[in-house]
Amino acid sequence: MKILTVVGARPQFIKAAVVSRLLAAQSQCTEVLIHTGQHYDERMSDVFFRELSIPVPTANLAIGSGSHGAQTAQMLIGIEQELQKHRPDLCLIYGDTNSTLAGALAAAKLHIPVAHVEAGLRSFNKRMPEEINRITADHCSTLLFSASPVSTANLLREGIAQAQIVEAGDVMYDATLFYLDGAVNHQDVLCRLGLEEKSYALATLHRAENTDDPRRLCAIFDALLRVAEHYAVVLPLHPRTVAALQRQAIAAEVRTRLRIIEPVGYLEMLALERSAAVVATDSGGVQKEAYYAGTPCVTLRDETEWVELVELGFNSLCSPTVGAQRMAEVILEAKEQCTALAKDVSLYGGGRAGERIVEALAGFAGR
Ligand code: UD1
Ligand code: UDP
Repeated sequence: MKILTVVGARPQFIKAAVVSRLLAAQSQCTEVLIHTGQHYDERMSDVFFRELSIPVPTANLAIGSGSHGAQTAQMLIGIEQELQKHRPDLCLIYGDTNSTLAGALAAAKLHIPVAHVEAGLRSFNKRMPEEINRITADHCSTLLFSASPVSTANLLREGIAQAQIVEAGDVMYDATLFYLDGAVNHQDVLCRLGLEEKSYALATLHRAENTDDPRRLCAIFDALLRVAEHYAVVLPLHPRTVAALQRQAIAAEVRTRLRIIEPVGYLEMLALERSAAVVATDSGGVQKEAYYAGTPCVTLRDETEWVELVELGFNSLCSPTVGAQRMAEVILEAKEQCTALAKDVSLYGGGRAGERIVEALAGFAGR
Protein backbone atom coordinates (compact mmCIF):
# COMPACT_ATOMS: atom_id res chain seq x y z
CA MET A 1 0.00 0.00 0.00
CA LYS A 2 1.27 3.48 -0.86
CA ILE A 3 0.73 6.19 1.76
CA LEU A 4 1.14 9.87 0.98
CA THR A 5 1.87 11.82 4.16
CA VAL A 6 1.33 15.58 4.37
CA VAL A 7 3.31 17.62 6.90
CA GLY A 8 4.09 21.31 7.08
CA ALA A 9 4.45 22.66 10.62
CA ARG A 10 6.88 22.02 13.48
CA PRO A 11 4.76 19.67 15.63
CA GLN A 12 3.88 17.60 12.55
CA PHE A 13 7.54 16.84 11.83
CA ILE A 14 7.89 15.43 15.35
CA LYS A 15 4.71 13.33 15.10
CA ALA A 16 5.55 12.08 11.60
CA ALA A 17 9.08 11.12 12.72
CA VAL A 18 7.57 8.44 14.97
CA VAL A 19 5.23 6.92 12.38
CA SER A 20 7.60 7.25 9.39
CA ARG A 21 10.33 5.34 11.24
CA LEU A 22 7.92 2.49 12.01
CA LEU A 23 6.49 2.49 8.48
CA ALA A 24 10.00 2.21 7.04
CA ALA A 25 10.61 -0.86 9.20
CA GLN A 26 7.75 -2.93 7.77
CA SER A 27 7.04 -4.24 4.30
CA GLN A 28 3.31 -3.69 3.68
CA CYS A 29 3.34 0.09 3.23
CA THR A 30 5.57 2.53 1.38
CA GLU A 31 5.50 6.24 2.21
CA VAL A 32 5.74 9.38 0.10
CA LEU A 33 6.37 12.43 2.30
CA ILE A 34 5.11 15.84 1.15
CA HIS A 35 6.15 19.03 3.00
CA THR A 36 3.80 21.93 2.31
CA GLY A 37 6.45 24.47 3.37
CA GLN A 38 4.09 26.10 5.91
CA HIS A 39 7.09 26.31 8.26
CA TYR A 40 10.33 27.04 6.43
CA ASP A 41 12.91 28.68 8.72
CA GLU A 42 15.86 26.41 9.46
CA ARG A 43 14.85 26.43 13.17
CA MET A 44 11.18 25.73 12.42
CA SER A 45 11.74 22.93 9.89
CA ASP A 46 15.19 21.68 8.79
CA VAL A 47 16.48 21.15 12.32
CA PHE A 48 13.74 18.56 12.98
CA PHE A 49 14.43 16.60 9.78
CA ARG A 50 18.12 16.51 10.70
CA GLU A 51 17.82 15.71 14.43
CA LEU A 52 15.00 13.19 14.13
CA SER A 53 16.37 11.50 10.97
CA ILE A 54 13.16 12.14 9.04
CA PRO A 55 13.57 11.21 5.36
CA VAL A 56 14.02 14.15 2.98
CA PRO A 57 10.51 14.93 1.67
CA THR A 58 9.73 13.73 -1.84
CA ALA A 59 8.46 17.26 -2.52
CA ASN A 60 8.50 20.58 -0.67
CA LEU A 61 5.67 22.74 -2.00
CA ALA A 62 7.30 25.85 -0.47
CA ILE A 63 3.93 27.52 0.16
CA GLY A 64 5.24 29.62 3.06
CA SER A 65 3.20 32.10 5.09
CA GLY A 66 -0.01 33.86 4.12
CA SER A 67 -3.59 34.52 5.13
CA HIS A 68 -5.62 31.41 5.94
CA GLY A 69 -7.41 31.48 2.60
CA ALA A 70 -4.35 32.12 0.45
CA GLN A 71 -2.13 29.64 2.29
CA THR A 72 -4.72 26.83 2.35
CA ALA A 73 -5.71 27.42 -1.29
CA GLN A 74 -2.12 27.16 -2.52
CA MET A 75 -1.62 24.02 -0.45
CA LEU A 76 -4.77 22.49 -1.94
CA ILE A 77 -3.46 23.04 -5.47
CA GLY A 78 -0.02 21.63 -4.65
CA ILE A 79 -1.25 18.62 -2.67
CA GLU A 80 -3.84 17.75 -5.31
CA GLN A 81 -1.06 17.66 -7.94
CA GLU A 82 1.07 15.40 -5.72
CA LEU A 83 -1.88 13.08 -5.06
CA GLN A 84 -2.57 12.81 -8.79
CA LYS A 85 1.09 12.18 -9.51
CA HIS A 86 1.68 9.51 -6.85
CA ARG A 87 -1.82 7.95 -6.76
CA PRO A 88 -1.56 6.77 -3.14
CA ASP A 89 -3.97 4.32 -1.52
CA LEU A 90 -4.26 6.57 1.52
CA CYS A 91 -3.39 10.12 2.63
CA LEU A 92 -1.96 10.44 6.16
CA ILE A 93 -2.36 13.75 8.01
CA TYR A 94 -1.41 15.00 11.49
CA GLY A 95 -2.87 17.47 13.95
CA ASP A 96 -4.86 20.59 13.12
CA THR A 97 -2.86 23.05 11.03
CA ASN A 98 -3.73 24.51 7.65
CA SER A 99 -1.52 21.78 6.15
CA THR A 100 -3.78 19.19 7.84
CA LEU A 101 -6.90 20.82 6.44
CA ALA A 102 -5.50 21.06 2.91
CA GLY A 103 -4.34 17.43 2.96
CA ALA A 104 -7.75 16.23 4.16
CA LEU A 105 -9.75 18.25 1.62
CA ALA A 106 -7.53 17.52 -1.37
CA ALA A 107 -7.53 13.76 -0.73
CA ALA A 108 -11.22 13.46 0.17
CA LYS A 109 -12.24 15.25 -3.05
CA LEU A 110 -10.17 12.76 -5.05
CA HIS A 111 -11.85 9.89 -3.14
CA ILE A 112 -8.55 8.90 -1.57
CA PRO A 113 -9.09 7.60 2.00
CA VAL A 114 -7.72 9.89 4.69
CA ALA A 115 -6.15 8.76 7.98
CA HIS A 116 -5.94 11.43 10.69
CA VAL A 117 -3.49 11.21 13.58
CA GLU A 118 -4.67 13.18 16.65
CA ALA A 119 -8.34 12.94 15.69
CA GLY A 120 -11.12 14.00 18.04
CA LEU A 121 -9.33 16.84 19.85
CA ARG A 122 -11.79 19.63 20.56
CA SER A 123 -11.56 23.00 22.29
CA PHE A 124 -15.22 23.77 21.49
CA ASN A 125 -14.02 27.23 20.45
CA LYS A 126 -14.62 27.81 16.76
CA ARG A 127 -12.75 31.12 16.84
CA MET A 128 -9.58 29.01 16.84
CA PRO A 129 -8.43 28.20 13.29
CA GLU A 130 -7.27 24.82 14.60
CA GLU A 131 -10.80 23.87 15.73
CA ILE A 132 -12.18 24.41 12.23
CA ASN A 133 -9.25 22.50 10.73
CA ARG A 134 -9.61 19.50 13.03
CA ILE A 135 -13.40 19.17 12.75
CA THR A 136 -13.18 19.33 8.95
CA ALA A 137 -10.22 16.92 8.82
CA ASP A 138 -11.99 14.41 11.07
CA HIS A 139 -15.13 14.48 8.95
CA CYS A 140 -13.10 13.95 5.75
CA SER A 141 -11.30 10.95 7.29
CA THR A 142 -11.88 7.24 6.88
CA LEU A 143 -9.50 6.17 9.64
CA LEU A 144 -9.27 8.27 12.81
CA PHE A 145 -6.47 7.84 15.36
CA SER A 146 -7.53 9.36 18.68
CA ALA A 147 -5.16 9.99 21.57
CA SER A 148 -7.49 9.35 24.51
CA PRO A 149 -11.00 8.21 25.53
CA VAL A 150 -12.06 11.87 25.65
CA SER A 151 -11.10 12.34 21.99
CA THR A 152 -12.84 9.09 21.04
CA ALA A 153 -16.01 10.25 22.82
CA ASN A 154 -15.90 13.57 20.93
CA LEU A 155 -15.81 11.70 17.61
CA LEU A 156 -18.63 9.35 18.55
CA ARG A 157 -20.75 12.31 19.66
CA GLU A 158 -20.30 13.85 16.21
CA GLY A 159 -21.62 10.70 14.54
CA ILE A 160 -18.35 9.12 13.43
CA ALA A 161 -18.63 5.32 13.50
CA GLN A 162 -16.74 3.40 16.19
CA ALA A 163 -15.33 1.11 13.45
CA GLN A 164 -13.42 4.06 11.95
CA ILE A 165 -11.74 5.02 15.22
CA VAL A 166 -8.53 3.55 16.62
CA GLU A 167 -7.68 4.85 20.09
CA ALA A 168 -3.95 4.81 19.46
CA GLY A 169 -2.64 7.23 22.09
CA ASP A 170 -0.35 10.21 21.63
CA VAL A 171 2.57 9.79 19.22
CA MET A 172 4.30 12.68 21.00
CA TYR A 173 4.70 10.44 24.04
CA ASP A 174 6.38 7.84 21.83
CA ALA A 175 8.64 10.62 20.51
CA THR A 176 9.54 11.78 24.01
CA LEU A 177 10.52 8.25 25.03
CA PHE A 178 12.42 7.53 21.82
CA TYR A 179 14.46 10.74 21.79
CA LEU A 180 15.04 11.11 25.53
CA ASP A 181 18.56 9.67 25.40
CA GLY A 182 19.47 12.11 22.67
CA ALA A 183 18.05 14.93 24.80
CA VAL A 184 20.42 14.04 27.64
CA ASN A 185 23.29 14.87 25.29
CA HIS A 186 21.70 18.25 24.70
CA GLN A 187 21.72 19.15 28.38
CA ASP A 188 24.56 21.59 27.62
CA VAL A 189 21.86 24.00 26.48
CA LEU A 190 21.53 24.80 30.20
CA CYS A 191 25.22 25.77 30.42
CA ARG A 192 24.96 27.82 27.27
CA LEU A 193 22.08 29.80 28.76
CA GLY A 194 23.62 29.94 32.24
CA LEU A 195 20.73 28.00 33.82
CA GLU A 196 20.63 25.59 36.70
CA GLU A 197 18.36 22.55 37.14
CA LYS A 198 14.85 23.49 38.31
CA SER A 199 15.77 27.15 38.71
CA TYR A 200 13.97 28.67 35.75
CA ALA A 201 10.59 28.94 34.05
CA LEU A 202 10.32 27.82 30.42
CA ALA A 203 7.70 29.65 28.36
CA THR A 204 6.42 29.29 24.79
CA LEU A 205 3.82 31.41 23.08
CA HIS A 206 2.42 31.34 19.56
CA ARG A 207 -1.38 30.85 19.56
CA ALA A 208 -3.14 33.41 17.36
CA GLU A 209 -5.63 34.20 20.14
CA ASN A 210 -2.69 35.41 22.30
CA THR A 211 -0.30 36.92 19.75
CA ASP A 212 -2.92 38.79 17.73
CA ASP A 213 -4.75 40.35 20.68
CA PRO A 214 -2.60 43.22 22.02
CA ARG A 215 -4.29 43.14 25.44
CA ARG A 216 -3.65 39.43 25.94
CA LEU A 217 -0.12 39.66 24.55
CA CYS A 218 0.81 42.57 26.83
CA ALA A 219 -0.77 40.86 29.87
CA ILE A 220 1.20 37.66 29.23
CA PHE A 221 4.52 39.49 28.84
CA ASP A 222 3.76 41.58 31.90
CA ALA A 223 3.12 38.34 33.82
CA LEU A 224 6.38 36.80 32.59
CA LEU A 225 8.27 39.93 33.66
CA ARG A 226 6.77 39.53 37.16
CA VAL A 227 7.83 35.86 37.23
CA ALA A 228 11.32 36.98 36.14
CA GLU A 229 11.64 38.89 39.42
CA HIS A 230 11.86 35.43 41.09
CA TYR A 231 13.26 33.06 38.43
CA ALA A 232 14.95 33.28 35.08
CA VAL A 233 12.35 33.02 32.33
CA VAL A 234 13.52 31.32 29.13
CA LEU A 235 11.42 31.93 26.07
CA PRO A 236 12.30 30.23 22.75
CA LEU A 237 10.19 32.54 20.68
CA HIS A 238 8.07 31.48 17.70
CA PRO A 239 8.53 33.84 14.71
CA ARG A 240 4.85 34.75 14.85
CA THR A 241 5.34 36.13 18.36
CA VAL A 242 8.55 37.95 17.41
CA ALA A 243 6.53 39.81 14.77
CA ALA A 244 3.69 40.49 17.23
CA LEU A 245 6.10 41.92 19.83
CA GLN A 246 7.60 44.20 17.24
CA ARG A 247 4.12 45.43 16.29
CA GLN A 248 3.44 46.25 19.94
CA ALA A 249 6.86 47.89 20.36
CA ILE A 250 7.46 46.07 23.64
CA ALA A 251 10.40 44.05 22.38
CA ALA A 252 13.17 46.16 23.89
CA GLU A 253 12.08 45.99 27.52
CA VAL A 254 11.23 42.30 27.57
CA ARG A 255 14.45 41.37 25.79
CA THR A 256 16.54 42.75 28.61
CA ARG A 257 14.60 41.04 31.40
CA LEU A 258 13.56 37.70 29.85
CA ARG A 259 15.90 35.20 28.19
CA ILE A 260 14.34 35.43 24.75
CA ILE A 261 16.05 32.98 22.42
CA GLU A 262 15.41 31.69 18.93
CA PRO A 263 13.35 28.50 18.60
CA VAL A 264 15.44 25.51 19.64
CA GLY A 265 15.63 22.01 18.16
CA TYR A 266 13.48 19.23 19.59
CA LEU A 267 16.26 17.60 21.62
CA GLU A 268 17.23 20.87 23.31
CA MET A 269 13.54 21.55 23.92
CA LEU A 270 13.10 18.20 25.68
CA ALA A 271 16.17 19.00 27.81
CA LEU A 272 14.82 22.46 28.68
CA GLU A 273 11.39 21.03 29.58
CA ARG A 274 12.88 18.37 31.80
CA SER A 275 15.07 20.74 33.78
CA ALA A 276 12.58 23.63 34.10
CA ALA A 277 10.94 24.38 37.45
CA VAL A 278 7.73 25.23 35.64
CA VAL A 279 6.46 25.51 32.07
CA ALA A 280 4.09 28.28 30.95
CA THR A 281 2.73 27.80 27.45
CA ASP A 282 -0.10 28.04 24.97
CA SER A 283 1.25 25.12 22.93
CA GLY A 284 -0.62 21.83 22.67
CA GLY A 285 2.51 19.73 22.39
CA VAL A 286 4.44 21.47 25.15
CA GLN A 287 1.57 20.94 27.66
CA LYS A 288 1.89 17.19 27.23
CA GLU A 289 5.67 17.16 27.13
CA ALA A 290 5.74 18.99 30.47
CA TYR A 291 3.64 16.14 31.88
CA TYR A 292 5.87 13.50 30.29
CA ALA A 293 8.90 15.31 31.77
CA GLY A 294 7.30 15.59 35.23
CA THR A 295 7.40 19.40 35.16
CA PRO A 296 4.41 21.46 36.36
CA CYS A 297 2.63 23.35 33.59
CA VAL A 298 0.43 26.42 33.31
CA THR A 299 -1.54 26.74 30.09
CA LEU A 300 -2.09 30.37 29.14
CA ARG A 301 -5.38 29.90 27.33
CA ASP A 302 -9.13 30.02 27.98
CA GLU A 303 -9.51 26.30 27.36
CA THR A 304 -7.42 23.27 26.49
CA GLU A 305 -8.03 20.19 24.39
CA TRP A 306 -5.88 18.08 26.73
CA VAL A 307 -8.42 18.18 29.55
CA GLU A 308 -7.12 15.01 31.25
CA LEU A 309 -4.00 16.79 32.47
CA VAL A 310 -6.01 19.61 34.04
CA GLU A 311 -8.40 17.15 35.71
CA LEU A 312 -5.47 15.15 37.13
CA GLY A 313 -3.80 18.29 38.50
CA PHE A 314 -0.68 18.30 36.29
CA ASN A 315 -1.72 21.32 34.29
CA SER A 316 -3.30 24.60 35.50
CA LEU A 317 -5.42 26.44 33.00
CA CYS A 318 -5.03 30.21 33.32
CA SER A 319 -6.78 32.56 30.94
CA PRO A 320 -4.73 35.67 30.12
CA THR A 321 -7.91 37.65 30.81
CA VAL A 322 -7.28 37.25 34.58
CA GLY A 323 -4.51 39.84 34.27
CA ALA A 324 -0.74 39.88 34.68
CA GLN A 325 -0.58 39.74 38.48
CA ARG A 326 -2.85 36.69 38.80
CA MET A 327 -1.15 34.91 35.88
CA ALA A 328 2.25 35.43 37.52
CA GLU A 329 0.88 34.09 40.82
CA VAL A 330 -0.50 30.96 39.13
CA ILE A 331 2.87 30.31 37.43
CA LEU A 332 4.79 30.79 40.69
CA GLU A 333 2.32 28.61 42.64
CA ALA A 334 2.39 25.85 40.01
CA LYS A 335 6.12 25.56 40.52
CA GLU A 336 5.41 24.25 44.01
CA GLN A 337 2.65 21.86 42.89
CA CYS A 338 2.23 18.51 41.22
CA THR A 339 5.68 17.00 41.72
CA ALA A 340 4.01 14.76 44.30
CA LEU A 341 1.46 13.48 41.77
CA ALA A 342 2.15 10.10 40.23
CA LYS A 343 2.29 10.06 36.46
CA ASP A 344 -0.01 7.53 34.78
CA VAL A 345 2.11 5.99 32.03
CA SER A 346 -0.93 4.42 30.38
CA LEU A 347 -2.50 7.83 29.78
CA TYR A 348 -2.21 8.66 26.07
CA GLY A 349 -1.28 5.17 24.95
CA GLY A 350 1.72 4.27 27.08
CA GLY A 351 4.27 5.04 24.36
CA ARG A 352 2.88 2.59 21.79
CA ALA A 353 0.71 4.94 19.72
CA GLY A 354 2.97 4.69 16.67
CA GLU A 355 2.85 0.88 16.71
CA ARG A 356 -0.96 0.92 16.89
CA ILE A 357 -1.17 3.40 14.02
CA VAL A 358 1.14 1.39 11.76
CA GLU A 359 -0.67 -1.82 12.63
CA ALA A 360 -4.01 -0.25 11.69
CA LEU A 361 -2.57 1.18 8.46
CA ALA A 362 -1.22 -2.25 7.50
CA GLY A 363 -4.63 -3.73 8.36
CA PHE A 364 -6.30 -1.14 6.13
CA ALA A 365 -3.98 -2.23 3.30
CA GLY A 366 -5.16 -5.80 3.76
CA ARG A 367 -8.86 -4.89 3.45
C1 UD1 B 1 0.73 26.98 12.93
C2 UD1 B 1 -0.62 26.32 13.17
C3 UD1 B 1 -0.82 26.07 14.66
C4 UD1 B 1 0.34 25.30 15.25
C5 UD1 B 1 1.66 25.99 14.90
C6 UD1 B 1 2.82 25.17 15.35
C7 UD1 B 1 -2.33 26.95 11.55
C8 UD1 B 1 -3.55 27.74 11.31
N1 UD1 B 1 -1.71 27.17 12.71
O1 UD1 B 1 0.68 28.25 13.57
O2 UD1 B 1 -1.99 25.31 14.86
O3 UD1 B 1 0.19 25.23 16.63
O4 UD1 B 1 1.75 26.18 13.48
O5 UD1 B 1 3.97 25.93 15.51
O6 UD1 B 1 -1.94 26.16 10.72
N2 UD1 B 1 6.79 32.26 10.32
C9 UD1 B 1 8.11 32.45 10.05
N3 UD1 B 1 8.87 31.36 9.73
C10 UD1 B 1 8.37 30.12 9.63
C11 UD1 B 1 7.01 29.93 9.89
C12 UD1 B 1 6.22 31.00 10.24
O7 UD1 B 1 8.62 33.57 10.12
O8 UD1 B 1 9.13 29.17 9.34
C13 UD1 B 1 5.96 33.41 10.74
C14 UD1 B 1 5.30 34.14 9.56
O9 UD1 B 1 5.30 35.51 9.86
C15 UD1 B 1 3.88 33.62 9.61
C16 UD1 B 1 3.66 33.39 11.10
O10 UD1 B 1 4.92 32.96 11.59
O11 UD1 B 1 2.95 34.52 9.08
C17 UD1 B 1 2.61 32.33 11.40
O12 UD1 B 1 2.93 31.11 10.74
P1 UD1 B 1 1.74 30.08 10.34
O13 UD1 B 1 2.35 28.86 9.79
O14 UD1 B 1 0.71 30.76 9.52
O15 UD1 B 1 1.04 29.77 11.70
P2 UD1 B 1 1.66 29.40 13.12
O16 UD1 B 1 1.40 30.53 14.03
O17 UD1 B 1 3.04 28.92 12.94
N1 UDP C 1 9.39 22.83 20.12
C1 UDP C 1 10.72 22.81 19.75
N2 UDP C 1 11.43 23.98 19.86
C2 UDP C 1 10.87 25.14 20.30
C3 UDP C 1 9.51 25.13 20.68
C4 UDP C 1 8.78 23.95 20.56
O1 UDP C 1 11.25 21.78 19.36
O2 UDP C 1 11.58 26.15 20.36
C5 UDP C 1 8.62 21.58 20.00
C6 UDP C 1 7.97 21.13 21.29
O3 UDP C 1 8.90 20.38 22.05
C7 UDP C 1 6.81 20.30 20.79
C8 UDP C 1 6.41 21.00 19.51
O4 UDP C 1 7.53 21.79 19.12
O5 UDP C 1 7.22 18.99 20.48
C9 UDP C 1 5.22 21.87 19.75
O6 UDP C 1 5.02 22.69 18.67
P1 UDP C 1 4.24 24.07 18.77
O7 UDP C 1 4.21 24.56 20.16
O8 UDP C 1 4.82 24.95 17.73
O9 UDP C 1 2.78 23.67 18.24
P2 UDP C 1 1.50 23.01 18.91
O10 UDP C 1 1.90 21.76 19.59
O11 UDP C 1 0.89 24.02 19.82
O12 UDP C 1 0.61 22.77 17.74
